[in-house]
Amino acid sequence: MKVITHPADLGALRDSPGPIGLVPTMGALHRGHYSLLARARRECATVVASIYVNPLQFGPQEDFNRYPRTLSEDVQLCEEAGVDYVFAPRQLTEQGCTLVVPPPALTNTLCGLHRPGHFVGVATVVLQLLHLVQPQRTYLGEKDAQQLAVIQKLTRDLYLPVGIIPCRTIRELDGLALSSRNRYLSAEERQEAPRIYKALLEAQAAFLAGQTDAQALQALITQQLGSLLTLDYVALVHPLTLQPVHAVIDPTLLAVAVRLGSTRLIDNIRLTHQKAPIIAIDGPAGSGKSTVAVQVARKLGFVHLDTGAMYRAVTWAALSRRIALTPLELTRLAHQLDLRLQTVPDALAGRPATRIWVEDTEVTDLIRTPLVNAQVSTVAAVEGVRQVLVQKQQMLGRKGGVVMEGRDIGTQVFPQADLKIFLTASPEVRAQRRQKDLTRPGTPPPALASLTLQIQQRDLQDSTRSASPLIQAPDALLLNTDALSVEEVTECICTWARYL
Ligand code: PAJ
Repeated sequence: MKVITHPADLGALRDSPGPIGLVPTMGALHRGHYSLLARARRECATVVASIYVNPLQFGPQEDFNRYPRTLSEDVQLCEEAGVDYVFAPRQLTEQGCTLVVPPPALTNTLCGLHRPGHFVGVATVVLQLLHLVQPQRTYLGEKDAQQLAVIQKLTRDLYLPVGIIPCRTIRELDGLALSSRNRYLSAEERQEAPRIYKALLEAQAAFLAGQTDAQALQALITQQLGSLLTLDYVALVHPLTLQPVHAVIDPTLLAVAVRLGSTRLIDNIRLTHQKAPIIAIDGPAGSGKSTVAVQVARKLGFVHLDTGAMYRAVTWAALSRRIALTPLELTRLAHQLDLRLQTVPDALAGRPATRIWVEDTEVTDLIRTPLVNAQVSTVAAVEGVRQVLVQKQQMLGRKGGVVMEGRDIGTQVFPQADLKIFLTASPEVRAQRRQKDLTRPGTPPPALASLTLQIQQRDLQDSTRSASPLIQAPDALLLNTDALSVEEVTECICTWARYL
């Protein structure tokens, strides 16, 4: 990775393979930025991250001077995300330079009303960056919805040959949208901050239940915020034109800005009845379901819901609490357990994409021990445990935009899934894959014949057990992976998904 500080040195980019992806940032990078960088990495041959705290977009009373500057950590995060070039200029914009003025209709609303000149500063620096880097794709977060609309309009109006790729908002576990400004919050303010997203979710629930009146939805937000949060604005607008709507049309952007002490936070949600699809991938052990599900979710920008991790978490809890592995005890345990899953859309290399907590303990790594491996089938075969976990899975996946993999997703968990895949491979090929996984340097590989036999026995056990046996849903598409690589299987499923 190269760090470039002077615009003249960007000439190196002209020889880089395309497409070039640009992720403009102001640094103090967090997982939200990381998700943009990782997406650019997946989709572009060359990735450029810019880091520049742009003075033009800060008002005189705003936090330009105290805005966090953490360049060495940022450079490290870019390296981890596989960025090719970090462009961190000392100065780009200055008072008196030529300004880019977006149409007032887009800036006389939402944050533009409270931050005069802000979007002129943003448009100016983004246009400079687009000229300097000349990317084919530029990645922007939906969290800054007005900025996204302004830049989309700018690139259309000026016929710039660049695609603007909106990326979804990444949140903390409690729902607070990640932001470089979250670090300004005191402990007490940090506790209050999740109210913002909770309020947005309440409004979304009311909308889905039939409330379309803008005033009523705005009132609902105001009520939910509590006394520590002061509302700068709550608005319902068209997502592209940003013009206010009185009754919600599908889709509408519900955007808020609040002040918490001296910190200003923004967030938004899209009100729409259009549900993103649910993709169910079932199949026998060793067919490559989990690897493929993770890849498909990444490619489509969906959440990967690792249902296997939930059975493992119950197994881990039973073992660590020394609970007898009887159906009665295990079902009781599954009922009581507070299981929380968080999908890290772009997990750092080597970490699972789904992180999982049992009460307050993160068990992401603890559930992958040989002890848990040995017992998880017993736990997963308990009808009561399955019933409890299937309910949790249905809750987690109900909003769509998920890829779930398991043995009974298309038959039991989401019989109404929009796309069902039954992934399979012959026992011999699965045994070869397993042998490769289990082979450690310096030790002889496990015998292929005995691995094949184990797999055949497991298939028989899984397809004949009474609780949720492994069967292909009648409407599932069968995909035999014997002769296909993970990339080919992923591509095939993504192509089917695009036809939905
Ligand atoms: P900054 O606030 O650093 O954000 C850089 C990019 O990260 C923006 O596209 C923003 O929308 C995105 N982003 C921020 N928080 C996010 C989150 N929680 N989830 C997903 N994406 C998130 O926005 C700017 O910088 C500047 O205005 C800039 C465009 C760089 C121009 O100076």
